[in-house]
Amino acid sequence: MASIFSKSSDAYIRIGLLVLVLGAGATIALAFYLANPQVRETGYAPLQPVEYSHKLHAGDLGMDCRYCHSSVEQAAYAAIPATEVCMNCHVRVKADSPLLQMVRESYATGQPIPWVKVHSLPDYVYFNHQAHVAAGVGCVSCHGRIDQMIVVKQVEPLSMAWCLDCHRNPAPRLRPADQVTNMAWQPDRDPVELGRQIAEAKGIAPPVNCSGCHR
Ligand code: HEC
Ligand code: HEC
Ligand code: HEC
Ligand code: HEC
Ligand code: HEC
Repeated sequence: MASIFSKSSDAYIRIGLLVLVLGAGATIALAFYLANPQVRETGYAPLQPVEYSHKLHAGDLGMDCRYCHSSVEQAAYAAIPATEVCMNCHVRVKADSPLLQMVRESYATGQPIPWVKVHSLPDYVYFNHQAHVAAGVGCVSCHGRIDQMIVVKQVEPLSMAWCLDCHRNPAPRLRPADQVTNMAWQPDRDPVELGRQIAEAKGIAPPVNCSGCHR
């Protein structure tokens, strides 16, 4: 009796089934990816390999953010300082502290300290620090009172709605460029009026079109 399916159509069915199974796998993988985006939740505050405190260095000691995050005005990325930057002081300051053991080891071996990234956008979003800092958006607007944090914590959602909320009406969030790293800065007049002046002088128009942030 002739079978309904020839040998070759049997193979087609096998391939068809395989595609279905793989397809289901890919769908599950995609669902996982969408459910666990790289973007972290507000409140994310991972423990760091060294008990470095922004409250001590940027708050009490009054160090400017740019001493360590030196690329923030020139680049998309805000550089995390190399161990050498820490050792500018710590070859002398607290030179024997056990809390600085890993810093000394990193300095001796050249192996970078494995800092854990706190803020992270998905790869399909374009973000640029330089553009924001040059426009006069303070670090505090997006990162909160870092100078009061012992452990850095994400305080804003970094969601699309959050970005757009400011992009549609940036003026109240603008400040003179020389105050961007001043966490405690307060406007000496109506912030909306001051912001409008800054926005006009610089011709500020943040992108609200899709390709502005998804390039
Ligand atoms: C003495 C050096 C130093 C100074 C000064 C400093 N930082 Fe940092 N910053 C670090 C180091 C080291 C890390 C990585 C470890 C951590 O997250 O605590 C970091 C991490 C951060 C992060 C989190 C980065 C991420 O992974 O998402 C932010 C945001 C930040 N700093 C902002 C600031 C701001 C704003 C200031 C100024 C008020 C400042 N920092 C001053 C050294 C410094
Ligand atoms: C401008 C100088 C300076 C720089 C640069 C600096 N620190 Fe410090 N650091 C200090 C001072 C001052 C103290 C407080 C010392 C004290 O308590 O007497 C301190 C304290 C610390 C402590 C606590 C040590 C203890 O035993 O209590 C750690 C940990 C630390 N720093 C890590 C770092 C790291 C990591 C970096 C680089 C990202 C860094 N520091 C860069 C000046 C500096
Ligand atoms: C308009 C919002 C905004 C402003 C203003 C801002 N940041 Fe950020 N920052 C972000 C976002 C969003 C990320 C995550 C970027 C990513 O994952 O691509 C980030 C990441 C960082 C990081 C981790 C390294 C990196 O580039 O991913 C550091 C350090 C940092 N910011 C420091 C600063 C400092 C210092 C200032 C002020 C001079 C500042 N930021 C101003 C939104 C901002
Ligand atoms: C607090 C206000 C504020 C927030 C929050 C903010 N932005 Fe902006 N953004 C601005 C301003 C102001 C500019 C500068 C526009 C100009 O100079 O014309 C800008 C410019 C940009 C640009 C254009 C940069 C360039 O190089 O052309 C991009 C892209 C951008 N923002 C992405 C983002 C993303 C993504 C987020 C959220 C993760 C975000 N921004 C959050 C205020 C903000
Ligand atoms: C100001 C910057 C900005 C603009 C403009 C922007 N996006 Fe986004 N978009 C983001 C950010 C940031 C995320 C990541 C949000 C997250 O994962 O929480 C995102 C995520 C997305 C996602 C992933 C799904 C989601 O909602 O998380 C899609 C799809 C998307 N955007 C489409 C668009 C389209 C379409 C436009 C134009 C109408 C647009 N975006 C304009 C910043 C922007």
